[in-house]
Amino acid sequence: MAAPRIEGESLLARFLTPEVYQALKDRETYFGVRLEHLIASGVQNPDSAIGVYAGDEESYSVFAPLLDPIIEAYHGFGPGDRHVSDLDPGGLEDQPLDPAGRYVLSTRVRVARNLCCFPFGPVIGFRERRMAERAILGALETLEGELAGSYHPLPALDPATQARLVEEHLLFKAGDRFLEAGGFNRHWPDARGVFLNRERTFLVWVNEEDQLRIISMEKGSHLKRVFSRLVQALAELERRLSFARSPRLGYLTSCPTNLGTGMRASVHVRLQRLPEEEIQAIALAHGLQVRGTHGEHTQAEGGVYDVSNKRRLGITEVEALRQLEAGIRALIRAEGA
Ligand code: ARG
Repeated sequence: MAAPRIEGESLLARFLTPEVYQALKDRETYFGVRLEHLIASGVQNPDSAIGVYAGDEESYSVFAPLLDPIIEAYHGFGPGDRHVSDLDPGGLEDQPLDPAGRYVLSTRVRVARNLCCFPFGPVIGFRERRMAERAILGALETLEGELAGSYHPLPALDPATQARLVEEHLLFKAGDRFLEAGGFNRHWPDARGVFLNRERTFLVWVNEEDQLRIISMEKGSHLKRVFSRLVQALAELERRLSFARSPRLGYLTSCPTNLGTGMRASVHVRLQRLPEEEIQAIALAHGLQVRGTHGEHTQAEGGVYDVSNKRRLGITEVEALRQLEAGIRALIRAEGA
């Protein structure tokens, strides 16, 4: 069979050469992941930036001739590099980034995780997904104090509540076309849900793009406090769950953009004067990424942008947070100038 023609400018289109296709077309992982699973989303969505999802941990070694160049292009992380983690909040400034609260509305840090030895979203089966949900809930139920909360299974949420939670940035949106094409939405909404603490400052999305999206967030710009809460939750959860991880690539996620730290630290910042091109340029110079008010693939409303670290692999968590701090300070300076 000839290599499929991949439309668009995605990293998949760039790196799935006829040679790579020939080398990978008959490979299969232990969980039955094949090349067609990896590339389905990018083939069906020519406007993809990346275009691939891994179907399990082993995909990263079995399909390395395709995934390694994609990882290098996105993260600047080469074959000889090894990921290093630093979850010590001690190195961060113990004060809000924008003390007067004139620009930064809220701060959010999330990490993506998957359970060790389970297939990922593209190929996970109905029963396996339920098993993953049960294991995750078992761990979440043991959380105490500020982190204690309750689980809201998606099938039990009425449409109005669901819409309100999405609007409040507490719940993932249904029907993402990139995930849909990648096979993630099979059996929707079964075994998906969200765990929320009382204050709505700690939440966990279950079985969406990754099996866990562990999120700490609050109004204002106290990055250290938000990160510390996340680190505390991670330490508790890692006592009861073991996450998919590799010595070279760090935490393993379905999308190669989330490898390593799995962490996206973001603020919602209101920049009403700066032109969007200038925002993009300052962000780029600081290794940051700009999204719309409601996240990926949305527009900024009322000059409110979601600004976050772009790189998540080959950089420690603390380094990524420092990068965010520096970039946000630069944006605020430019806006106020
Ligand atoms: N698969 C989509 C693309 O290639 C999204 C990539 C990054 N975003 C994400 N949520 N993983 O454009």
